[in-house]
Amino acid sequence: MRPREAAFDEALSSLRRLGIPAVLPALHAAGVGVRRTVLGGSHSVAIYPPIDSLTPLEPRDAIEGIGWGKETSLYVHIAFCETRCTFCHYAVDHYTGKADDAATDDGKVTRYLAALKRELASWGVRLARSGTAVSSIYIGGGTPLVLDRTALSDLLDALYDQYDILPGAEICIEGSPLTITAPGGSEKLRFLRERGVTRLSFGVQSFDDTVLKYAARGYKRDIPLRACAIAADVFENWNLDLIQGLYKGSPSETWGNIEQIADIRPPHLTWYHGRFGDRPQGRWYNTDSRHAGFEDEQATLLGRTLIWQQLAALGYRQTDGNRFVRDQQYTDPFKQIRTSVSRHLLGIGPASYSRAGAAASNADSRGYVIRNEPDIGRYIETVSAGNSPIATGRVIGPDEVLATSYATGLRTGRVEDAELQIMRLARPQLSRHYDTLARQLIDLGALEEYRGDRGEAGLRLSELGRLFEDETLALFFSPAVKRELERKASATDVRTGQIPNTAEGLSWAH
Ligand SMILES: C[S@@+](CC[C@H](N)C(=O)[O-])C[C@H]1O[C@@H](n2cnc3c(N)ncnc32)[C@H](O)[C@@H]1O
Ligand code: SF4
Repeated sequence: MRPREAAFDEALSSLRRLGIPAVLPALHAAGVGVRRTVLGGSHSVAIYPPIDSLTPLEPRDAIEGIGWGKETSLYVHIAFCETRCTFCHYAVDHYTGKADDAATDDGKVTRYLAALKRELASWGVRLARSGTAVSSIYIGGGTPLVLDRTALSDLLDALYDQYDILPGAEICIEGSPLTITAPGGSEKLRFLRERGVTRLSFGVQSFDDTVLKYAARGYKRDIPLRACAIAADVFENWNLDLIQGLYKGSPSETWGNIEQIADIRPPHLTWYHGRFGDRPQGRWYNTDSRHAGFEDEQATLLGRTLIWQQLAALGYRQTDGNRFVRDQQYTDPFKQIRTSVSRHLLGIGPASYSRAGAAASNADSRGYVIRNEPDIGRYIETVSAGNSPIATGRVIGPDEVLATSYATGLRTGRVEDAELQIMRLARPQLSRHYDTLARQLIDLGALEEYRGDRGEAGLRLSELGRLFEDETLALFFSPAVKRELERKASATDVRTGQIPNTAEGLSWAH
């Protein structure tokens, strides 16, 4: 690794080469700037249309209108965690998994798992009927590893018995530093590996004790260090999550995290931007006395550049603005599925999101996205009564196909296939809107044109655009999606959603 001063100098000169800070006012005027708010309900534009743009839907219409096709990925949500982190906006309940907690949880976890298995069984029957196989499974949350071995084993049995899982399919489970280092944690991981789990993913968020304290993670840096050693011992393929921009975070803290990564060298690394909804850190960001405890936009850009440059020097390949792999074989198929235009995804559990094509009989639609009831109690009640938990969704018509091609396609490069060209002709006004927007962002240097493998014209984020990756992608949400997001946002105070005032801090804080 480079010495600290040299690395900071290199990052600063690379930002200057990109025209920062002079270009920031023009970018802000175009809607491009680092934001701390969730974008459409999530901390990254991982799915499109975003969850906050979905509207109430009749479950039966969706179930009958969907066509699953030959393959889908499967996501199973375990909504329990042993900590309630101050930044996290996921649908989770507190549960430690310890014997006394299990005895006093009023059967909540048991009822939850029973409902989950009921939902799994009903989709299993439908996918068997449509001849749909499962190409990858992600058991996420929450913190699934907080469940005991018997519960995890029952869940895997339900999956193996009821779904046609393709040979070689990746099966990933989410844990946390506390669950991995708990007594019996490494034995539980070995057991899961023997039962077919192929990958582990967990969040460290930061190796800085002050940041960890305010994030309410329930550990100091020694615990994730031990968790990484256990993960590396049991799994060949594992992922570690970090977050830039948490309360008390700074370029110095980012540097400390890079130094740890240089020692640990996880096969896969995800380094998110902290974005806050209505959770404590979102409220702190809006409080004058606490606001200064968050890094400003220029500090974030400096930290991000340090991350990119130093991870490249460590031999990591960047798969997008947030994700890094030590070797091609560790690329996360699930993340690619979530951001792809056409791959199908079935989500099981509260707040889970699904995406599929349209049934052949459904001529008006190109597909559906649907989302389950997010409230855990209502989810259990609905499924236990034999009803579908689908609560909201959106029919995917030509507008949304076009929007998806930009909002997810620009991340890695968007080329137009025959279907997109037909959509363009069907929607001339919207196409002109996207052409104008793309041209404006090319002129600002946030997007660039390129030639695809077969010489076709492509468009993608530039190096400058990737510094504001999610914010740039969010500009391409469809007009209908933007209207729905604005309607929902108007009901709340959204200071975290504002582009920062450039005059606020032109100094590089490190
Ligand atoms: C669903 S969590 C599961 C991981 C596990 N429960 C843990 O915390 O170790 C997946 C990841 O989302 C990221 N995340 C959650 N809330 C976030 C936020 N507000 N901003 C940015 N990233 C966030 C964290 O990095 C977290 O590890
Ligand atoms: S970050 Fe992980 S452990 Fe913390 S509340 Fe969210 S899902 Fe649970």
